Amino acid sequence: MEKSRGQWGSRLGFILAAAGSAIGLGNIWRFPTQVGQSGGGAFILVYLIIIFIVGIPLMIGELAIGRRGKINIVGAFKKIKPGSPWWIIGVLGVLAGFAILSYYSVIAGWAVSYIFKFLTGQLADLGAGESGDVFGQLVSSPVEPLIWHGVFMAMTIGIVIFGIDKGIERASKIMMPILFLLLIVLAVRTLTLDGAMEGLRWYLTPNFRAIDISTVLGALGQVFFSLSLGMGAIMTYGSYLTDDNDIPNSAVLISIADLSIAILAGLIIIPAVFAFGFAPEAGPPLIFIILPAVFGAMPLGNLVGALFFLLLTIAALTSAISLLEVPVSYVIDELKWSRKKAATLVGVAIFLLGIPSSLSMGIWQEIFFFGMPFLDFMDFLSSYLLLPIGGLLTAIFIGWAWGSREALKELSKEGVQFSLRGPWFAVVKYILPIVLLYILITGLLP
Ligand code: TRP
Repeated sequence: MEKSRGQWGSRLGFILAAAGSAIGLGNIWRFPTQVGQSGGGAFILVYLIIIFIVGIPLMIGELAIGRRGKINIVGAFKKIKPGSPWWIIGVLGVLAGFAILSYYSVIAGWAVSYIFKFLTGQLADLGAGESGDVFGQLVSSPVEPLIWHGVFMAMTIGIVIFGIDKGIERASKIMMPILFLLLIVLAVRTLTLDGAMEGLRWYLTPNFRAIDISTVLGALGQVFFSLSLGMGAIMTYGSYLTDDNDIPNSAVLISIADLSIAILAGLIIIPAVFAFGFAPEAGPPLIFIILPAVFGAMPLGNLVGALFFLLLTIAALTSAISLLEVPVSYVIDELKWSRKKAATLVGVAIFLLGIPSSLSMGIWQEIFFFGMPFLDFMDFLSSYLLLPIGGLLTAIFIGWAWGSREALKELSKEGVQFSLRGPWFAVVKYILPIVLLYILITGLLP
């Protein structure tokens, strides 16, 4: 039975696929936005600390639960603690995957449309003002972004149907390195723009007075979002792991890869924002307005722009796959549907839930949910509530229900040496629950 679920073909394949889940719009779109809105270098410092205290320990835990369960995430909790209600964490994760992918795909759809807008010259040689107009027209149209959202969901469904070893692993292996190289080229270009140095200074100098609880909550949400934690995506990837995998080591590698791409993306976007005279707190659409202006200032800018948004689409796809895989593998195991039926029906439902997010950039701009347009509300709900709560419960589960003996046994299979086993378990059992509860309570209460 277990064999037929499939396993990663190689250790490198797994690392790249998990890094593929982590690296996506979260790094290239969301991270620079958060840095811009929360005071530059100060945010980065808090972000780094949270990655090491919260992110990596939790990723190790999720991978261990996943590999122990070798089943969908709801099933994993049921298998480890039969007859107890811990499986509800899994259900929360399934819902979070649903919610996140619905608006994630809308934004990824914008990226898909940009590939074609560059190739057909609609974004050729524009200044930042004009590219703002092109973006505004795209997202405020009631129909066009929905088509791209549909195209992106269709691609995601397609890959999830083909299963893990054929689709996901192969695509990540080829595309991730190309994305990395292109980002380096772009960083060189923006850092040599006039006025970029001021942005660089703002990006790298921590202003400690700018740190408050909302910076911390923002950084926490960003760590969860960017590392794909708190909803079982990484747990699901862990369920395809072989016993000889050194999980702690993998978690560190994946997190560092993710962190480097985020820092690099910020290095491209923040100096460019300053060079083109924008305010760094301009918000989510930043990359869709600023980057075309950067490409406009480059030789062969159209081609580079099209290539960039192609790679961004692929990075988003490898993330979206991990988001869809969570509800899909649950439905397959639980309702005994075929992979094809499960992926298609769940994917279509997610597409439908994405429609209000898309419309909230245009004709539904004035309709607010808890004071936010629908897309922002979904993002808030996911990264500030669903994911940290999922992470909190997962940490409590590992520390207090699964227990050190069993959890550490899973991490030291087949002779794997985990030298920080004691500290890791103490962090998961005591520090994570306290830190997460504190940030959630003080950050969210008015
Ligand atoms: N981490 C991805 C990104 O940065 C998005 C993502 C994929 C995600 N799977 C997830 C976010 C699970 C939260 C939970 O783009």
